[in-house]
Amino acid sequence: THKLLQDKFGRALKDLRISVTDRCNFRCTYCMPKEIFGSDFAFMPKEHLLTFEEIEQLAKIFIELGVKKIRLTGGEPLLRRNLPVLIEKLVAIDGLEDIGLTTNGVLLEKMAEKLKSAGLQRVNVSLDALNDELFKSINDSGVSTDRILAGIKRAQQVGIEVKVNMVVKKGMNDQEVIPMAQYFKEQGVTLRYIEFMDVGQHNGWNFSKVVTKKQLYNQLSQHFELEHVDSSYVGEVAKRYRYVGTDTEVGFITSVSESFCSTCTRARLAADGRFYTCLFATEGLDLKHVLRSGANEKEIKDVIVPTWKKRGDRYSDERTEETAKTKKKIEMSYIGG
Ligand code: GTP
Ligand code: 5AD
Ligand code: SF4
Ligand code: SF4
Repeated sequence: THKLLQDKFGRALKDLRISVTDRCNFRCTYCMPKEIFGSDFAFMPKEHLLTFEEIEQLAKIFIELGVKKIRLTGGEPLLRRNLPVLIEKLVAIDGLEDIGLTTNGVLLEKMAEKLKSAGLQRVNVSLDALNDELFKSINDSGVSTDRILAGIKRAQQVGIEVKVNMVVKKGMNDQEVIPMAQYFKEQGVTLRYIEFMDVGQHNGWNFSKVVTKKQLYNQLSQHFELEHVDSSYVGEVAKRYRYVGTDTEVGFITSVSESFCSTCTRARLAADGRFYTCLFATEGLDLKHVLRSGANEKEIKDVIVPTWKKRGDRYSDERTEETAKTKKKIEMSYIGG
């Protein structure tokens, strides 16, 4: 009945990114710098977090409205207590085709087995450098690359599909582009380079810090022979390539140089139950309030549907040096990327 739910530009609602906590055990300098996210930073109090039952209830409604794919994010989602219990609940919902998790990998070695048993199929692990000193200086939490690599191995061993995400920021980790490609090509793991974006209010973004897909591709093609791979579905975020003669892929997430808003079917649910129609949105719809005031399923749909219908977000298409500086934005750690 809701098969035709479309926004102002005809984009359907197909993917839901659910943030389960705004906390993180890293303090990546470009995301949660210690000066801002210090020991006195006010994270969400527990009673503001959606419970697993509330998340499940909303997920069911979103799936009825057309969502096929759910991705759990944070902050760092593995910090949320008993996360496998939530995964089990979500996997059991009829109509959900795909569930993934985006993590920094610190707790992955410990949790991989439980995540797999709960029904998790895929994880995307963020790793911005192989060089240990550099990695520590980026995560600003003293965690070694070994720990993340061990998490990736463990996940693969238990049968979870792994992709690696590397945010490339000029002057921070651009020297790691080729070593990362070499390593993950050998491991047979898909690596995706992410263009540094102007999310949040604190990451000091400007165009000169972005390494574009074109630059990355040129650099890679001096070391490897690449062939293009078609997207597996309309609206896939990464541009995909394969190392010729292998099954291993490498991808680029080009939110800055080749924005993909025209096919964006993603919505986001923050850990406090606010619903956002864009990563760069400033106003969210307070679904927790709607839920906790006792609304039934129909009443909840009646607030989501019009919100999606009037959605006109296309921030990455419109981004300029000016909007990057002046537009008010929510934090990546709050909305989960
Ligand atoms: P797959 O389902 O494995 O393709 O995952 P994904 O790429 O959709 O999710 P992931 O959490 O791994 O995100 C990788 C990067 O893409 C992150 O930097 C996200 O912030 C970014 N990203 C994902 N969706 C969007 C989007 O709708 N808009 C923008 N601008 N960036 C996005
Ligand atoms: N630009 C691009 N990607 C970012 N991420 C965090 N901050 C940024 C940014 N400013 C990445 C994380 C993770 C994913 C969810 O988003 O490293 O891989
Ligand atoms: Fe780093 Fe991700 Fe944590 Fe941000 S949310 S500090 S990018 S690990
Ligand atoms: Fe979608 Fe907003 Fe990202 Fe564009 S900027 S792709 S509309 S989330």
